[in-house]
Amino acid sequence: MANALQVKDLCKTYITNKRQNNVLKNVNFNIEEGEMVAIMGPSGSGKSTLLYSVSGMDRPTAGEVSLADKKITDLNESELAKVRLNDMGFIFQQMHMLKNLSVMDNILLPAYQTDKGGRSKEEINVYCKELMRKLEISDIADNDITEVSGGQLQRACICRSLMNKPEILFADEPTGALNRSSSDEVMEMLNRINEEGTTIMLVTHDMKVAANCSRILYIVDGNIKGELKLEKGDTSPSETEKKDRERKVNNWLSEMGW
Ligand SMILES: Nc1ncnc2c1ncn2[C@@H]1O[C@H](COP(=O)(O)OP(=O)(O)O)[C@@H](O)[C@H]1O
Ligand SMILES: [Mg+2]
Repeated sequence: MANALQVKDLCKTYITNKRQNNVLKNVNFNIEEGEMVAIMGPSGSGKSTLLYSVSGMDRPTAGEVSLADKKITDLNESELAKVRLNDMGFIFQQMHMLKNLSVMDNILLPAYQTDKGGRSKEEINVYCKELMRKLEISDIADNDITEVSGGQLQRACICRSLMNKPEILFADEPTGALNRSSSDEVMEMLNRINEEGTTIMLVTHDMKVAANCSRILYIVDGNIKGELKLEKGDTSPSETEKKDRERKVNNWLSEMGW
């Protein structure tokens, strides 16, 4: 399999009050096309910083990041903005939807901002409706974003992140604001999308979310301390399979000092 993402000697240093905080210290890893990788680790270990530095939301201090064959650390701001819009999808804990716009209009926005694929408005609308059907939120298309549940809103964010058919999805605590059942729903959707070929890198605190992924990287103090490879998860695994995966992840996390 080809690499979807390559990260070489990545460093990120913040300067606050004239003090240097070396948050990422020579981080190296690759993500292959079709993988679903979870980043775990203690609070403050640099997980979000890592996600932002590899996805071009923030500039690393040193090191190289390549998306497929494109070295994105060499791009200027406008080139990078284009890659983010066209080739990457983003999902956050705080969902960043625009008020005063319907759920569907929010989802449509990134598609109207790009000429990728040369799609007509009609084609864009059709694709949007197809995504909403897949994520099971067709019935709330015209709702205001304040009129839906957290789980529905996060599924709408997933639709939005997929509108421009990204090569890779980045998610920072995508289930962090959700209750257990909404979180399970969202993970089922992410598993389905991954199954259909989209590569996913997500940060999570939730062992159950991580157990849904095909690999887990554990980061401590700005370095990758360990990794756990799991079988590719079934989209609808049996309870026994789920429990087995979770036990495996749990044991490994205790070894990591979780
Ligand atoms: N924009 C920023 N400016 C200065 N320091 C930051 C910034 N973002 C994160 N940090 C610092 O980087 C460290 C790692 O933060 P973060 O990546 O958010 O950790 P995690 O997501 O693992 O909880 C923390 O010490 C945090 O204070
Ligand atoms: Mg974080």
